[in-house]
Amino acid sequence: MENNDLNPVEELKWEAKSLLIIGLVLLAILGFSVSGCKHDIPVPIKAVDDNGGGGGGGGSDQPCDPNTVYFQQQVLPFLVSSCAKSGCHNAATAEDGVILDSYANVMNTGEVTPFDLSDSEIWEVINESDPDKVMPPPGETQLTQAQINLLALWINQGAQNLICDDASGPCDSVSVSFAGDVVPILQNKCVGCHTTATSTNGFVSLSGFTDVEVVAGTGQLVGAITHDPSYVAMPDGGPKLNACEIAKIKNWVSEGTLNN
Ligand code: HEC
Repeated sequence: MENNDLNPVEELKWEAKSLLIIGLVLLAILGFSVSGCKHDIPVPIKAVDDNGGGGGGGGSDQPCDPNTVYFQQQVLPFLVSSCAKSGCHNAATAEDGVILDSYANVMNTGEVTPFDLSDSEIWEVINESDPDKVMPPPGETQLTQAQINLLALWINQGAQNLICDDASGPCDSVSVSFAGDVVPILQNKCVGCHTTATSTNGFVSLSGFTDVEVVAGTGQLVGAITHDPSYVAMPDGGPKLNACEIAKIKNWVSEGTLNN
């Protein structure tokens, strides 16, 4: 039926419908352009779903939900530390075309299929039994079971690029211990690159108290994580540690690098 065949009442209804549709399209475009803007790890961190789609991208502060995996805080740091190393999957080397240093690159080159572990290459290579194909390769720092579980949960929850406001919880940087505070940060964000093995290439080792104590003593540890221009900024190629993590490490150092 053609538009000009309509009687006046129907024509009015038609016009109203068209206006509604145009309005919705405009709203959608507006929504996309607002939520589509990317944020490169702001600190303190806002709750932003910058998954690229139009849906739901708020911008309001949100505390971390313990049942949700936040890619930026919980997955990206260990991918950078264990995979996006020089000679492996950083942008410069891009072994097999795979770059694991940002959300976009992980999604584009890691062949992640949201909600589908068995169709996600990144998951398959981690669980590969063939020693020539398994990742990380034998001899490299292996992922911990907790990190593997997080990766699986992240994919099963839709492989979103979520950030939560972890500055919203109390940050106890005063009563800091090596085992309880410093080691978990280094484990997730540093030791993939800084093992005893890599120290033979001239990199500092951050595995174990004795090694960390040495790097702290020279000023390199705090210099690197605070991005002091006299040092190489760390994590290499990854997001800066958040304010709470930096405060914890600084306090642990200023209290005399205790093995507590
Ligand atoms: C993706 C690999 C990678 C990650 C992750 C990484 N580093 Fe490094 N780090 C390097 C490399 C490579 C160098 C050597 C840089 C150079 O000499 O140019 C280095 C150097 C350093 C140095 C010496 C800096 C200096 O100027 O003397 C310190 C200290 C350090 N890293 C600490 C850390 C800490 C702490 C973390 C975690 C918060 C971390 N790194 C995460 C690769 C990494």
